[in-house]
Amino acid sequence: MEVLPKQGAVGAEVIGIDVTKSDAQTVAAIRAAWLKHGVLLFRGQNLTPEGLAAFSAQFGELEPPPASEGGTREELGNQPVWYISNVKENGQAIGSLGNAEAEWHTDMSYLPEPPTTSILFAQEVPPSGGNTSFADMEAALDALDDDLRKAIAHRTVHHDSSTTSVGETRRGHDAVFDVTTAPGASHPALRTHPETGRVSLYLGRRRHAWIEGMAVGESEALLDRLWEHCAEPTFAWEHVWRAGDLVMWDNRRMIHRRDAFDPTTRRIMLRTQLCGDRPFK
Ligand code: OGA
Ligand code: MN
Repeated sequence: MEVLPKQGAVGAEVIGIDVTKSDAQTVAAIRAAWLKHGVLLFRGQNLTPEGLAAFSAQFGELEPPPASEGGTREELGNQPVWYISNVKENGQAIGSLGNAEAEWHTDMSYLPEPPTTSILFAQEVPPSGGNTSFADMEAALDALDDDLRKAIAHRTVHHDSSTTSVGETRRGHDAVFDVTTAPGASHPALRTHPETGRVSLYLGRRRHAWIEGMAVGESEALLDRLWEHCAEPTFAWEHVWRAGDLVMWDNRRMIHRRDAFDPTTRRIMLRTQLCGDRPFK
């Protein structure tokens, strides 16, 4: 196995391995590369849902999928693998997020203990569109202006659970009109990575976020400035998918977003996530 860092800010491609055949030594090497680079790409993989679950489980305990328009967390909870897809069968979506743009986010940070890791496998991809970008929030924090850093450093951010990254209200949730009463979890705006000791910005997603204790107008203005900074292309790597790509990222450090794509084309991705722990500053 060889690890080739991406040009630019973040990420690496791992070549020369079939992930269905990874032994303990390979898993340790993947983990080390993943901690170093934040996001890893493995091309040309051939994975069933069971194969993806088995690969994922070598890195930790699987977290059940989130609630979405495809089902509640409870309904989905006994299956580790879920689908991100715009494909419909018999009028029913087979997965989440449709074909819309997904805004910058870190996964499931509305939980008190958000997943450490997300793993996404491309089974079928559209001819164009649906690229996924990954941005490094350690680099973003390092490059943050002092005044912004001071403004956010000791704050807690509330992470809303009502709405997905494509803006749909999750099943079993009400629409949010007041960010101070949104459901979800609160986390320090800066978090220390429990394995590397490095510190990153940890904002979750822009929509329905609230910097706790601030007047809503002030919180909105500060969040807009922070998100403008986080979205700068210098912190990011944009991945153009091919079928057979497997991507694994560290949610404690990275944010990601997805472009929209033509709804008449098909995109089918398989997803797992690994249990995390409570973020700390
Ligand atoms: C995810 C996600 C983006 C994509 O799996 O968490 O945001 O490319 N997916 O579909
Ligand atoms: Mn996501």
